[in-house]
Amino acid sequence: MSNTLDNKAREIMRGNDKGTYTVPTAGLYPYQWNWDSAFAALGFSTFDMGRAWVELETLFTGQWDNGMVPHIIFHEKSSGYFPGPDVWGTTHTPPTSGISQPPVAATFTRMIFDKDPEAGRAHLVGLFPKLLAWHRWFFECRNESGMIVVTHPWESGRDNAPDWDEAMKNVDISGVGEYTRNDLGHVDPHMRPQKEDYDRYMAIVYAGRDCGWDEAEIAENGPFRVSDPGMTFILLRANRDLLAMAVTLGEDTSEIESWISAIESGVERMWNPAINSYDSVNIRTGLFAGDITLVSFLCWYAGVNNPKMLEQFDRVTNAAMFSMPSYDPEAEDFEPFRYWRGPVWGIVNTLIAIGLADMGHIEKAEKLREDTVKLISKSGFAEYFNPQDGSPAGGMDFTWTAAIWLAWASPNAQTEGN
Ligand code: DGY
Repeated sequence: MSNTLDNKAREIMRGNDKGTYTVPTAGLYPYQWNWDSAFAALGFSTFDMGRAWVELETLFTGQWDNGMVPHIIFHEKSSGYFPGPDVWGTTHTPPTSGISQPPVAATFTRMIFDKDPEAGRAHLVGLFPKLLAWHRWFFECRNESGMIVVTHPWESGRDNAPDWDEAMKNVDISGVGEYTRNDLGHVDPHMRPQKEDYDRYMAIVYAGRDCGWDEAEIAENGPFRVSDPGMTFILLRANRDLLAMAVTLGEDTSEIESWISAIESGVERMWNPAINSYDSVNIRTGLFAGDITLVSFLCWYAGVNNPKMLEQFDRVTNAAMFSMPSYDPEAEDFEPFRYWRGPVWGIVNTLIAIGLADMGHIEKAEKLREDTVKLISKSGFAEYFNPQDGSPAGGMDFTWTAAIWLAWASPNAQTEGN
């Protein structure tokens, strides 16, 4: 069974491979996406190390002069996606979007390097300054007292998460006008964000474009600025890995160390005692979102061992047939099929489980892996899964689901230590 799924996963990754980068899935997402690509590199590293490095190196061809690594790189023309390069109106070559995405790349670079340090060294030497510049950009442009903020829900990777609801209400959509979504031609609408979300996504894109993606202006007056436990924990972990790579290369570590201690104190600001969990904060109002979502459980991944989150983990995983649901199944507005408002995501299971295992919570890590194995065995390499009945949702033959199967979920990945 697992050999068949391993073969299928490799076939999916090869099928989505455009030579130097991988699309998340044919049709729905026809370009290179930032964190998808980092996951793809991790998947490739289980069977083609050379291709893994190329994936990461191609991602950085999209890096801006200010260090930002965009969430989409539009390498080739494609009519099938909205909003495409013309809508973003950025000036980079190749064309890109104007926002970033969760920085898992440093952590995966380190994992890939560790598999074969000798062959990887030249790649690491090339990538290190680029990763450093990207992390510096986060610190300069997305840092609010050590909490890492997103300026668009798409930047978090969790487009319609409940975390954003309160802040999204304040986004003015009066200038948005007509547009045609392409996603609904590929995926059932009840699995995707709604029109009221999309109008706001577009209003925020237009606001960025209209100021020429000026970060100072976006920080001061942007329509959306919310701290994200996901971004914050992922960047904290990424900085710890960057630090280890700096040591390997004999680079100065002081700047990275200062980022780590700043974010460690930012993490404490994201603790919402009212819900006993890490939570998002709307920077414009100072209000917590009040929601327990799957990224609250990335604390261990960031090296933060909070016993209260272990209790939350037990409660939330007991409330779902398959874990980790993207939103608390006991919340009134939990929606098992709708994108980031309920479904399970194999990639986040991977990150949470890596953290749990690092901190010695082996049974909990194993629970997430077993659930992921059941979901993929039952429903294939879907983009995400319904946590109540395990049915597939979103795009199929998805690169990152195949990648985490090969690198982590597959029983063979465990025995071979991939
Ligand atoms: C989409 O288009 O749905 C993406 O999530 C934005 O990156």
